[in-house]
Amino acid sequence: MIGDRLQIGLAGLGTVGTGVYEALLRNRSLLEARAQISYEVRRIAVRDLGKPREVALEPGVLTDDWRDLVEDEKIDIIIELIGGTREAHELVLAALKAGKPVVTGNKALLAEHGSELFRLSQERGVPLYFEASCGGGIPIVQSLQTSLICNRVDSIVGIINGTSNYILTAMEKKGLPFHEALEEARMLGYAEADPTLDINGWDAAHKALILAMLAYGTPLSPDKVAVRGIESIDPVDIQFAQQLGYTIKLLVVIKRHANQKALELRVQPSFVPQTHLLSKVEGVFNAIAVSGDIVGETIFYGRGAGKNPTTSAVLGDVVLAMRECRLPDYHTGFHPYAEAMRVLPAQETVTPYYVRFRVKDCHGVIAAISALFARYDIGISAITSRDGADDEEGKHWNYLVFMLYECNFGQLESSLAEIQRLGTVLGEPMVLSIERMGMND
Ligand code: HSE
Repeated sequence: MIGDRLQIGLAGLGTVGTGVYEALLRNRSLLEARAQISYEVRRIAVRDLGKPREVALEPGVLTDDWRDLVEDEKIDIIIELIGGTREAHELVLAALKAGKPVVTGNKALLAEHGSELFRLSQERGVPLYFEASCGGGIPIVQSLQTSLICNRVDSIVGIINGTSNYILTAMEKKGLPFHEALEEARMLGYAEADPTLDINGWDAAHKALILAMLAYGTPLSPDKVAVRGIESIDPVDIQFAQQLGYTIKLLVVIKRHANQKALELRVQPSFVPQTHLLSKVEGVFNAIAVSGDIVGETIFYGRGAGKNPTTSAVLGDVVLAMRECRLPDYHTGFHPYAEAMRVLPAQETVTPYYVRFRVKDCHGVIAAISALFARYDIGISAITSRDGADDEEGKHWNYLVFMLYECNFGQLESSLAEIQRLGTVLGEPMVLSIERMGMND
């Protein structure tokens, strides 16, 4: 039973942890009125007790062992903001087993261990809240679980990594090459100290897994997602995209294929038509388009990262958890309800494509490549080219772009392997899917 004042245990006092602590103090009267209960932050677990803190803390509130939170019988709910997956996994497991609702923003934890944690939450009837794990301040998790609950979700297509979107925007608007755009994102504090997961697509993939689990009620594991990052995007691809009426975005694409009882789940840089709202999402902003069978198309837009947006998402969950502690028989944490679904292998996915080659400057190249695409039954909607440069031996090469009609990715891969053998193509081609997304498309 909870006492007169709900007792909170906060694990992690980094950027977001500090934001959450400050906001719990600053907005106390508002939060208490909305949650209909008063509260206290009883203990805060940190790694380094000696580190100077930006916030004034009551003596004795800090501990360097998160177990002190889980084992404290007076603590009613736990906010996990320590990051990483190993300790966070142990902490969340232990908290749920101890009957304490958990609020977390840890996308890597849920992508890796979500199935286990959601099952435990369901078995024990102890909620796990995770609004901050996807899209920062955008209320996408609760929207899927509440406001859109009556819909069969046909698709979720979104930009859910702010760092990579900042880089692609800087490449497009300022003409910067990838590494300079990344450096700029770093200097402005947008990129993580180690931005690997942001640029290789895995940060977005973790969030995609969470959204797919929510939308389809199904356990999923990271090995099922086809993931490509933005590292190899060349400024010339950005220029071709603009010329052809598109913008390149790192897109998360989740689609239900009801007839195949399968999900399409991929993260990759893609061509987005300049007429679509997602193409207008710039800088560190995120946007998520959800299409449901009853609601139709919706788009959620906002800041996908940073102290304040993430704090807003965490505290939304904390208020839910506080309310539900007063009504313990029911909770709005995630209840998986469906069997595991098959995820379509990347080779079986079908979209139109942009394929950009570097080719030797000689006659018959377009004809030879076109003939090979035709042999694989792949239609061409447009061809364009641009002057390239001379190689080290003074031989000239050019850029050659094929816009392809919808085809199966496996078929495309086979045709490209054969095209590589022609001897007129230099290096690997750049292959980007072209997304057709309904609304203003
Ligand atoms: N690195 C993430 C991003 C932070 O750039 O979107 C929020 O998850």
